[in-house]
Amino acid sequence: MIQSIRGMRDVLPEEGRRWRRIEDRIRDVLVGHAYEEIHLPLLEATELFSRGVGEATDIVEKEMYTLADRDGDSLTLRPEGTAGCVRALIEHGLLFNQTQRVFYAGPMFRYERPQKGRYRQFYQLGAEAFGFPGPDIDAELVLLGYQFWRALGVTDQVRLELNTLGSGQARADYREALVAYLTPLADRLDEDSRRRLTRNPLRILDSKNPETQALLADAPRLPDYVDADGQAHFDGLRRLLDAMEVPYVVNPGLVRGLDYYTHTVFEWITDTIGAQGTVCAGGRYDGLVERLGGRPTPGAGFALGLERVMLLLESAEGAGADSAADVYLCVMDPAHQAWALALAQKLRDALPAFRIRTHAGGGKLKNQMKRADQSGARFAIVVGEDEVARGAPALKHLREDRPQESLTVDALIARLSAAAD
Ligand code: HAM
Repeated sequence: MIQSIRGMRDVLPEEGRRWRRIEDRIRDVLVGHAYEEIHLPLLEATELFSRGVGEATDIVEKEMYTLADRDGDSLTLRPEGTAGCVRALIEHGLLFNQTQRVFYAGPMFRYERPQKGRYRQFYQLGAEAFGFPGPDIDAELVLLGYQFWRALGVTDQVRLELNTLGSGQARADYREALVAYLTPLADRLDEDSRRRLTRNPLRILDSKNPETQALLADAPRLPDYVDADGQAHFDGLRRLLDAMEVPYVVNPGLVRGLDYYTHTVFEWITDTIGAQGTVCAGGRYDGLVERLGGRPTPGAGFALGLERVMLLLESAEGAGADSAADVYLCVMDPAHQAWALALAQKLRDALPAFRIRTHAGGGKLKNQMKRADQSGARFAIVVGEDEVARGAPALKHLREDRPQESLTVDALIARLSAAAD
């Protein structure tokens, strides 16, 4: 039997319902902040990521799905959305003399070791803002995350970690100092960190190895290298978050795995879903547009991993609470099928927020009612001989102990509409 590829998951109807509900809430928050949706290709030139995300990052070094197309061009399935977004906005001249606030949603691909919350195909919702140099937009982006957790009812289960990397120059100076300090100690570093020493030394700060962490205790500290402007930017962001009463912790070890960041970096982390607890992450990337061939333009953004947000909600509220439909329409006799279909259409037109499923396949009313129950619907509507003759379908309350009602179509619409509030 042919099976799915390791690390690539099927989302089946039950999970699909929860997925839609969660994604819709997140989208509502983004749209409510006037971010505009864009759709970008899954395949890009490999060079976009080696230049954009950075040659020395784990993603580019060992996690990309890269293939040659029939012309021999090297293409890569996008491992993240920021580089492609920047490419598209430069290509279409949308960064010149204007600002942008956009979002995107879709699958990303990384050849990582699969585990709970970490997959080889995963789904991100990302937001990016361009043309804003100040900390006000950093605050807006962080607050967007906060609004997601509010909309999903999980603010008490995520924490915000923040850091600043300073300007590109500050980051380069710090990198040099860190390498100078660690090089004579290289023998005592763990293997990964030794490799990173020449390629991507800032990531050593992330090492989980206790001996490496002990060596880092006396290393030069990133905050000491942040210049005055960088510090003022970070202080500005902190003031805005304080004013909005959004709690955070400053984590000077937070450096992020992608090379494009400058100044602010942040992560929203939960302890409830295991080792892969970062549900949303991002920061500022002021040099990226220029690095990808555009004019210097400040940028900042984040992406959240939808599968991880789903795990977070599952741990918070338990799985399987969602229904497949709100209303299940039963038809007692095939002769009334057309009447019932017309009724269903009328209800859908009048009640666009309701998911109305009509019974298909005939059968006894008892079996149809069983299906209605299994769908999780709150209401069943029954159409039979009498109902058609009187133009008054029967409404049954499936989740409450209330008598069946016989209502004209208009009364039925009013009744359901009131039940939705
Ligand atoms: P990232 O930290 O690599 O950043 O990914 C963002 C989020 O995507 C992570 O916090 C996590 O929730 C989810 N994620 C990443 N890898 C996996 C995986 N293998 N399986 C499941 N979920 C995963 C970026 O991608 C940046 N482009 C974010 C950004 C946008 N920065 C600025 N703008």
